[in-house]
Order: sequence, then structure tokens, then C-alpha cells
Amino acid sequence: MATATVHTPAPILVVQAVREHQLGHLEAAAELYARALQIDPAEPDALNLLGTLHLQSGDLAAAVPFSAKAVLVDPRSASAFNNLGLIFKQAGQTAAAADCYQKAIRIDGQFADAHNNLGVILKAEGHLLRAIDCYRRALDIDPTLGEAFNNLANAYQEIGELNEAVEAYLQAAERMPDSDTVHFNVGLLLNRQGRYDDALVHLRRALEINPNRADAEHLVAALEGRTTRTAPPDYIRKLFDDYAPRFEAHLVGELGCRIYLDMVRLINQHRGQRRFSRSLDLGCGTGLAGAAARDFVDELVGVDISEKMLRQAEVKGVYDSLQAAEIHSYLEQNEDPLDLVMASDVFIYIGALDTMISLLAARMTDGGFLSFSVEAEVPSASWILRASGRFGHGDAYISALMEENGFRVLDKLSTDLRSDRGKPIPGVIYLAQKRAA
Ligand SMILES: C[S@@+](CC[C@H](N)C(=O)[O-])C[C@H]1O[C@@H](n2cnc3c(N)ncnc32)[C@H](O)[C@@H]1O
Repeated sequence: MATATVHTPAPILVVQAVREHQLGHLEAAAELYARALQIDPAEPDALNLLGTLHLQSGDLAAAVPFSAKAVLVDPRSASAFNNLGLIFKQAGQTAAAADCYQKAIRIDGQFADAHNNLGVILKAEGHLLRAIDCYRRALDIDPTLGEAFNNLANAYQEIGELNEAVEAYLQAAERMPDSDTVHFNVGLLLNRQGRYDDALVHLRRALEINPNRADAEHLVAALEGRTTRTAPPDYIRKLFDDYAPRFEAHLVGELGCRIYLDMVRLINQHRGQRRFSRSLDLGCGTGLAGAAARDFVDELVGVDISEKMLRQAEVKGVYDSLQAAEIHSYLEQNEDPLDLVMASDVFIYIGALDTMISLLAARMTDGGFLSFSVEAEVPSASWILRASGRFGHGDAYISALMEENGFRVLDKLSTDLRSDRGKPIPGVIYLAQKRAA
């Protein structure tokens, strides 16, 4: 007697797959979606969700054919367009991603995720107010979306609406209590606002959730009054990547930072007619010091850990070369002789300066000029980590380091570096000269 193979119908396999998918059993779910598609190659949910699953696993190439076919077989599926948008975004095709999210919204105006996702693209393209509208729309539809609150807070922070940003982060933290990112974000912002006790609560929580967060560890140490050797490189990179778009308008425009101008003035007072043949602008940022010094320098190299700051510096067109690197690592790997080194408002992120100064001493030519600024008023200590997360240095420590490494201090300028929440931050700009060996 002939036996007939009984197939589980495709929609039932999809239901089983979704269950596995929700449990995080990705392999089992993928197999069930694939079996459903063997039976019905145009099963829309299997196509859409298998595409999503591959995206979740980070396999973009595997995701594309399923998600692309999902929108073809079901052009009325907002979810399929939204997921295809996520794939385009991951692939860096932001215009195509935005187009998909907009199609999803046209199909279903109440699709909160699509509004949120469209906001992410708009923000990345610098359309902050439109992004805020999208996040708010998403949250009107679904106020439980913690991710949209976090995105809204980031956008508010970028336009300088700090109180709104704190409020939105707190809403995000309520909805995502186990997100170290959200707790860190709100802690960082509260710290910037001088709300130290509140900041410490969130930063400690971020560290508790993710003990590997060096950035949270740094700020917790700062707020608990403990001093460390340096700020973690990833913390500095992210801080300045986020700050880059508004750095000059904020630091120079609003906070009145003129360190780079004072530094170049000090160099000018001592150099006479001298030109420098190879100059390094350490932590060059957006290139303010480099631009001010360009006239008396033959070759100018800028080094910074933040690529987004470097992109702004590139626009100025004053550097012969810009290098994305941590400054100690850069100096360890580059031994070209230097006759001028500037570090304007950079050593505030490095406590222990011994390695830095000895690396510079080894690379600077006799008679070379070294100028740098520090936050001051640290009478009895070598350096301290302040609640702000920045370091202050003592004059005796700097003077001893200069002496030990063969530099003679030519001049020092005590000045207010910038204002912090309305209060001037006192600092010192040093100009030292490398002695002949
Ligand atoms: C306050 S900004 C000053 C920028 C610029 N020198 C100026 O005067 O406008 C500090 C810069 O130093 C960079 N920076 C701080 N520590 C660094 C490190 N260890 N390695 C590389 N760059 C660093 C930051 O990324 C940031 O761009």
C-alpha cells in the first residue's frame, strides 16, 4: 500500500518558527522558516521574518534576498518595508532605508517603529528637528518605546535642550532599566549639568549592569573623588565624536574658550622670526590651534582620537596630514623629529603625564618648542581627577616633569580656560623649550 507524506502546512511552520524566534532560538527558527518556504516559496511572513532573523544575526547578505522578496510578495506589509529599511541602514544605504520607512508609514501611519527608525536616519543626516518630530510621533503612538525616548534625548542634547534631554533619558531609563547605555547617557548629562548625586546613581547602575564600561568607571571614580592615571580612550573618542558637530559653536562661541589663541600668542612672543619645519598638533580636534599656527609652520600634522573631530579639521584645509590615533600610540609609532608640539586643552584628559612628556622629549629636536595647557589650582597634588571627568595638574608636578625630561620652561600664562556652568575654569598655558642634549 502506498504511503503519502503528510506536510505540516507552511503557516503552521511559521507559527512554530515565530515561537522559537521569540525565545531567541535562532537556529531552530531559521530552519522552520526555511521549511515553510520550501512548501510555499512566497509565504510572506516566513520571508519577512527570516530576513529579520539574518539581520539580527549580523548576516546582511543572507537577509537581503528574503526581505527584498517579502516586499514584492506583500507590498502592503508595513513590517516588511520597515525590516528592509533596517537592512539598507545597516548596509549604509540611508536614502533607500528612509524610503522604506516612509513606505511603511504610508501603509500604516500608526507604525511607531517606522517613525522612530526614520528619525534615526534624519538625525544622522543632521535634520535634528525633523528627527525629534519623528521620535515624538513614535512616542505618541507607543509611549512604551524606550529606544525612541533614548533617541529623542540624544537629539535634544545635540540641539542643546539639556533639560528636555534629561527628562527623555529618564523616561528611557524607566522603560529600559537594564540598559547600561541609557543609564550612562543620563549619568553623563547630569554630570555635565553639575547634578553630581543624581549622575552618580545612574553611572553606578550602568557599571553594575556592564562592569566592562570603562567610561562609566571613569566618571564614577571622578564623582567618588578617586584619581586615576588617564581617561579611557573609548570614553574620549565617544565624547568628542558626539560633541564634534557643535564643538566650535559651543566651546568657542558659548563657553568662550580661547586657549588655542593664547597658546599661539605665547609661541609668537618667543619665536621671533623663527619658522618651524615639522609641527604636531596633539589632540588637534577641529583644527583651531593648527589654523592659528599655520603661518609659521612648514609641515603641520594633526592627531586626534575622534574621527568626527578630524573630519571638521579636514574642512579647514590647514593640515598636511591628519591622523586618527590615540596620542601616546601615535608617538610610540612615529619617530619623525618635531620642532613644535602643541596640545591645546588636551592634557585635561590625561592625569599622569610622565609617559607623554618622555615620548615628546625623545622625538623633539634641540631647541624645539612644546606648548600645552592644563587646568590649574591643584596646589598639593601632581594631578587630580575632578568631578567633571577632567584632570587638573599641579605646577610643581609639571615643572619637575619638564626638568626631568630636558625641557626649560620659557613662559607660563595663567588664564581662565573656559567657563563651566557660568564659572571660569582657571588654567595655565606652558611654553617650554627642549634643551640641547
Ligand atoms: C577640548 S578638545 C581641544 C581640541 C583642540 N586642540 C582645540 O584647542 O580646539 C580635546 C581634543 O583632544 C582629543 N584627545 C583627548 N585625549 C586624547 C588622546 N589621548 N588621544 C588622542 N586625542 C585625544 C579629543 O578627541 C579632542 O578632540
